[in-house]
Amino acid sequence: MKKLWQGRFNEESSELLEEFNASINFDKNLYEEDIKGSIAHAKMLGKCNIISEHESKEIINGLKQILFEIENDRFIFKTEDEDIHMSVEKRLSQIIGKEIGGKLHTARSRNDQVALDFRLFVLKQNKEIANLILSLVSTLKDIAKENLDTLMPGYTHLQHAQPVSLAYHLMAYAFMFIRDYERLVSSYERNNLCPLGSAALAGTPHPINRELTALELGFSKPTFNAMDSVSDRDFALEFLFNISVLFTHTSRLCEELILWSSQEYGFITISDQFSTGSSIMPQKKNPDVAELIRGKTGRVYGNLISLLTIMKSLPMAYNKDMQEDKEGVLDSTKTTKDSLIILTQMLKTTKFNKDNMINACKKGHLTATDLADYLVREKGINFREAHYITGRCVALAESKNLDLSELSLDELKTIHSDFDKNVIDILNLVNSKEARKSYGGTSNRSVEKQILIIENFLKDKLS
Ligand code: ARG
Repeated sequence: MKKLWQGRFNEESSELLEEFNASINFDKNLYEEDIKGSIAHAKMLGKCNIISEHESKEIINGLKQILFEIENDRFIFKTEDEDIHMSVEKRLSQIIGKEIGGKLHTARSRNDQVALDFRLFVLKQNKEIANLILSLVSTLKDIAKENLDTLMPGYTHLQHAQPVSLAYHLMAYAFMFIRDYERLVSSYERNNLCPLGSAALAGTPHPINRELTALELGFSKPTFNAMDSVSDRDFALEFLFNISVLFTHTSRLCEELILWSSQEYGFITISDQFSTGSSIMPQKKNPDVAELIRGKTGRVYGNLISLLTIMKSLPMAYNKDMQEDKEGVLDSTKTTKDSLIILTQMLKTTKFNKDNMINACKKGHLTATDLADYLVREKGINFREAHYITGRCVALAESKNLDLSELSLDELKTIHSDFDKNVIDILNLVNSKEARKSYGGTSNRSVEKQILIIENFLKDKLS
């Protein structure tokens, strides 16, 4: 089988090489970007009189036909054609003839072609994933709005710490995901530059116009140095890193959903639609979706480490190692989109068991910090001493098998004579949540402000 690069070779490729060298099995996913890039290139070649207007039009029509063929399953991808770039170019010559078809590759190389296709693909996926993050944030915010008064324990070290609202807890995640969104947006802006026209590594003597192709393809401008342009995969690394941080967050959320759905917590009931059963234990209802998202974090991190490692010692400029850049990105892209869609849907159908959450607040002396703060504020006791007195109150409650909030005034007075009847309100769970009015704190006013910030953000991004 004759290759497009056959000229200097006297022997046929080994079949082993053909299989090993080919990327068509996965880079066929870039067909749209490849054809779009070729159309822009052909247009530019025509405008710059490098090929005639007629040739340019012929090439563009041929490329459009190939797009139609691929999208209607009429295109046969063959290993012997090696990659998407050569598959399309070969087919073009079959459709419009070699004489004109052979002119498309003027002033470009597969090196800038693949850099372009892959960058276009990553930028497109970046946008789609960013939008899916907005839907997740919007869902978290909707649930938060309904649960300003749903008390639950806030934890440190997975031990009961202070009372918070479910709204407050979910808003913590909303702000994490907003950062993920912003990281994707900033990466998009930084990488929205066009490498097409860099050719193999050194530019081209043909009088091309790189601004023209850059604008035609929706980039802000061309990249600056041809060698860097064909060697650079930072856009993919940033994308994989940004997705990895996103998965750190989804994994933490899923971990909590898994805990909360356990019998020990009982805070949520995941809907039947998003739960699975056991093949042996008839009573089981398992949170597989959340577990899978937590588990998929492994491959997402793996894909980042893989590309970092591929790139780390490559000399300038293009090296075939870089063909290994695509499968991890394709995998992480699909994993992320599927996970965000299903997580959002699962949250929408999850039931929050408010009574269990509130009952959980009655264990673990959640208002102990409020008691210490009261002694400082109202009784002029220094915080260290107040901490000690409160600790003694907690010990007393424990000895009586009670929660701190269940001790009577008389019982508290046996620890310190300064306690007065106001202290009973201080130990109240709702009052405790409402007392923390500091910016970013748990009071409903503060959480409403947080919700408003997210609502304005979403309005701005979705308009
Ligand atoms: N299939 C190759 C890749 O994905 C395309 C670029 C090939 N360039 C070359 N000089 N062999 O990286």
